[in-house]
Amino acid sequence: MFSHHNKEEALPCVSAIVWPKVILFGDSITQFSFQPNGWGAEIANKLARKCDVVNRGLSGYNSRWAKILLPRLLETHNSNEGHIAAVTVFFGANDSALKGKPQQHVPLQEYSENMKELTKILASAGVEPDKVIFITPPPIHEPAWEKECILKGSALNRLNAVAGQYAQACVEAAGQCGVNVLDLWTLMQKDGQDYTEYLSDGLHLSQKGNQFVSEHLWRLLQRRMEELPFILPYWADVNATSPETTLLCD
Ligand SMILES: *[C@@H]1O[C@H](CO)[C@@H](O)[C@H](O)[C@H]1NC(C)=O
Ligand SMILES: *[C@@H]1O[C@H](CO)[C@@H](O)[C@H](O)[C@H]1NC(C)=O
Repeated sequence: MFSHHNKEEALPCVSAIVWPKVILFGDSITQFSFQPNGWGAEIANKLARKCDVVNRGLSGYNSRWAKILLPRLLETHNSNEGHIAAVTVFFGANDSALKGKPQQHVPLQEYSENMKELTKILASAGVEPDKVIFITPPPIHEPAWEKECILKGSALNRLNAVAGQYAQACVEAAGQCGVNVLDLWTLMQKDGQDYTEYLSDGLHLSQKGNQFVSEHLWRLLQRRMEELPFILPYWADVNATSPETTLLCD
């Protein structure tokens, strides 16, 4: 591409600079993940100059709404503006709300079907299962979440054991679809650790919980992301006499 002849020939090299995308798709735990020290911000920082990390977290949403919405979300990414390097799919916390919250509750079986459907929608947009990572709902600390519920004038509307059923369904759906899975519900409670410190209000992630998610997610992403090149040349490799020849032709 680089022409050694003269400036007039160097300039026509210009072409779009394409940044691959990592899409974080989920509910409030994803929406809030770009807060300082949030797990999404942490991943975005690690991928700076390699990928755009796109937050598509929608607080209060469930897998039923996600399934309806995902094709529209993907449409805007299909217009040749960079391939999708990875997608996290993080639903279940609102789905597993007890039936008393009918707007958000999604029955277990339907949740499982929805997760599989999301994989199909992604595959039909060119995002193969090996680029998809399901994240299960984290555990619920019932006493803390009950306090939040009472403050809002309702009774406890989530149970840890029920969140566990959704986590298991998520793991099984991932296995059937050949996608990766980060089983937060199990990992956070493993070996009798105090999982309550991973939660801020019994449901959402604390700073420690955000760190936990970013560390475990990075383990799943790292190998794939290391293969991606840094975008644009290292500054010391830019031709300082004639920067256009490097910056427009790389
Ligand atoms: C679920 O929805 C409620 C609204 O009812 C919202 O306040 C909460 O943050 C959501 N939780 C998750 C984990 O998405
Ligand atoms: C930098 O660009 C100038 C002008 O095109 C060229 O003469 C010179 O050889 C280039 N230097 C290097 C190190 O490529």
